[in-house]
Amino acid sequence: MGNKEQRFGTLAVHAGEDGFLHSPSSTPIYQTSTYTFDEIIDAAEAMQGSRDSFVYSRLGNPTVQAFERKLASLEDADDAVAFASGMAAISAVFLELLRPGDEVISSSRIYGGTRGFFEQILARIGCTVRSFSPFADIRKEIPPLVNNKTKVIFFETPSNPELSIIDISVVAAIAKKHRLFSIIDNTFATPYLQKPLLHGIDCIAHSATKYIGGHGDAIGGIVAGKANFIARLRKTMLLYVGGCLSPFHAWLFLRGLKTLHLRMEHHCSSAAAIAEYLSRHRKVSAVLYPGLADHPGHDIAKKQMSGFGGMVSFRLKSREICRKVLDRMELCKIGVSLGDTESLVMNNALMLYPKLTDAACRKIGIDPHLIRLSTGLEDVHDIIADLDKALKNA
Ligand SMILES: Cc1ncc(COP(=O)(O)O)c(C=O)c1O
Repeated sequence: MGNKEQRFGTLAVHAGEDGFLHSPSSTPIYQTSTYTFDEIIDAAEAMQGSRDSFVYSRLGNPTVQAFERKLASLEDADDAVAFASGMAAISAVFLELLRPGDEVISSSRIYGGTRGFFEQILARIGCTVRSFSPFADIRKEIPPLVNNKTKVIFFETPSNPELSIIDISVVAAIAKKHRLFSIIDNTFATPYLQKPLLHGIDCIAHSATKYIGGHGDAIGGIVAGKANFIARLRKTMLLYVGGCLSPFHAWLFLRGLKTLHLRMEHHCSSAAAIAEYLSRHRKVSAVLYPGLADHPGHDIAKKQMSGFGGMVSFRLKSREICRKVLDRMELCKIGVSLGDTESLVMNNALMLYPKLTDAACRKIGIDPHLIRLSTGLEDVHDIIADLDKALKNA
């Protein structure tokens, strides 16, 4: 999967990409749906999740496999399996683990798409999700939510979009004690900043669309964890649900991962400078950035992350002021994704819940006055100048 003695940057460049004919420096795109044979093979057996034989690209493809191996190596996982999107990856994990009547414990601060999956899909198959607040003492708040139907615990840290921080080791310990399968969405941190499996978490899901790809040109997802769980996902979720990643997208993610460490360093240092700037601005009522000493999760973030990430969220006085600031920004573009080379800004209430009042937004955990900024790779002085102008004129 990768040489354990090598460091992150070396693995990011090299891991997973050996063994190709002629040793190309860039892994070939195996743009094929099927593979052919000179004699009859046991295709049913070969399609049961084998990692060494390729029969049909929904279940295995050399370019996709190289991406899976590289990501597994970076996450210190046994193995990984790629999907067509982050949501395909997250939903596959839950559908694999849950049966009707089972229960899930989840942080209340998670990506809206995952919340939608819980409400629209898990509810339909009779699974209940109980939420805990990442702002409370989770050692006290989580155990009363567990009962004999609880199978899984799920969380994001840092969370989207409030950047709340949860102690990964505490969740892993609670999960072990109550025999729950623990899942983290590691999209915001990436393996460069945070390695949840080393804290005892069972499985990691990513939207590869974000920092892993890093260039805003591909949608994908990936799950990393123990070999037997990844093999189960392959055998059931790829075989029978079928949300596989395309070889071309896998190649884009391979290319993205080669520079992940460099990009994350830049994202982190720019985000820190922007958070400092915003925290001094009189029109900004709060800055949510785990790198700031007054962030409630700062100490935990310092313990479990090697950097505080490229996302900065900040609160303004009203939804209308958020609208004005977003409208006046020129360099930073309004967009719902994140982790790209370009800086992207958004406000959840204005863009995703325009019909809900502020109070209704707060009821479902949406801060209506929050702007989320995904710092891009532009010069940070230009990003700050753009913010400065927009805030001045708002
Ligand atoms: C934290 C997080 N997880 C998962 C997803 C879903 O990923 P995708 O859009 O690749 O399906 C997103 C998308 O924004 C996200 O921000």
